[in-house]
Amino acid sequence: MNAAMTEPAAGDVRTALERSIAVLRATFRARFEAATAEPALREEKARILGKKGELTAILKQMPALEAGARRAAGELVNTLKNEVEAVFEERLRALDRGERDAELSAPAFDITLPGREPAPLGHAHPISIVRDEIVDILVSLGFAVHDGPEVETEENNFTKLGFPPDHPATDMQDSFWTTDGLLLRTHTSNIQVRAMSTHPPPMAYIAPGAVYRRDDDATHSPMFHQIECFLVDEHVSVAHLKGVLGTFAERFFGAGTPIRLRPSYFPFVEPGAEVDVGCPFCRRADGSRAGCSVCKRSGWIEILGCGMIHPVVFESCGIDPEKWSGFAFGMGVERVAIVRYGIPDIRLLFENDPRFLAQF
Ligand code: DAH
Repeated sequence: MNAAMTEPAAGDVRTALERSIAVLRATFRARFEAATAEPALREEKARILGKKGELTAILKQMPALEAGARRAAGELVNTLKNEVEAVFEERLRALDRGERDAELSAPAFDITLPGREPAPLGHAHPISIVRDEIVDILVSLGFAVHDGPEVETEENNFTKLGFPPDHPATDMQDSFWTTDGLLLRTHTSNIQVRAMSTHPPPMAYIAPGAVYRRDDDATHSPMFHQIECFLVDEHVSVAHLKGVLGTFAERFFGAGTPIRLRPSYFPFVEPGAEVDVGCPFCRRADGSRAGCSVCKRSGWIEILGCGMIHPVVFESCGIDPEKWSGFAFGMGVERVAIVRYGIPDIRLLFENDPRFLAQF
């Protein structure tokens, strides 16, 4: 009775196990197939082979079988377990391959794409902005750019321009001298000498560049920039000079900007003059000017020195002053920038504080 009671029970277990094994064998491939990523695949494997997995549950029931059935079921379960592991490994490799293929066939990653935050862009320094604008205007009038060195001979910087040997500008206190008797040029007028000593007239040049003087206060810097402009031809008159200056003033400071020439002295010109432009800050619509703090209530702002090239300069450069004549002018770039932008202290242009420079 007892045996009869247990027999069907062992048979039930066996049938149930066989069914479980059959179901698992029939479905595990599809379940692995359904996992489209590695974590899901591993979870599926754990559901079958893990501690609480379906195949593990089957194994746990094996002891209830009678010896013969247990051996047969054991073989089946072992084979199934091997199959599950093999199919799992194969599926894992396939997923891996798929990922790599997808990466390789995806549109190429463009490493030249700009970043999301645009890199902050710098811009030209106000001294360069103003210099380039002045150069552009004068080049458009027909002047060519002439370069020259910043370390210069006394002859080219002073003597040939008619400076007497005892002129204060030649003093140790006013200029930077090298130990071998050269100096840092104190103005770009040296280019007049260099050009006229090497090329025959006619000529029309501008010479932008750095110059050096022993000065340092709110309106003077030991290094600053000038643009020299000169023209040599036959029958050049003050009218030509005024024509160029007037055109420059209108183009740089705005249409209707007047100029005036005040007699002044420079050793290398005769007559010589200082040039004022009508103050661009207090100009009224009718062209008159109210006077303001920038122009010190005068309505005029001095921007440069000019004149007719002195015969002494022509002679020292080997040019016949009876045949040739010319005009010259020279302006300070920082001076013009200060006037243009209303900058209170020239040193701001050299300190390079980004908060200042960002305003241009
Ligand atoms: N070289 C002069 C200076 O540095 C500026 C100057 C004045 C230049 C008169 C000229 C000129 O060509 O004619 O102060």
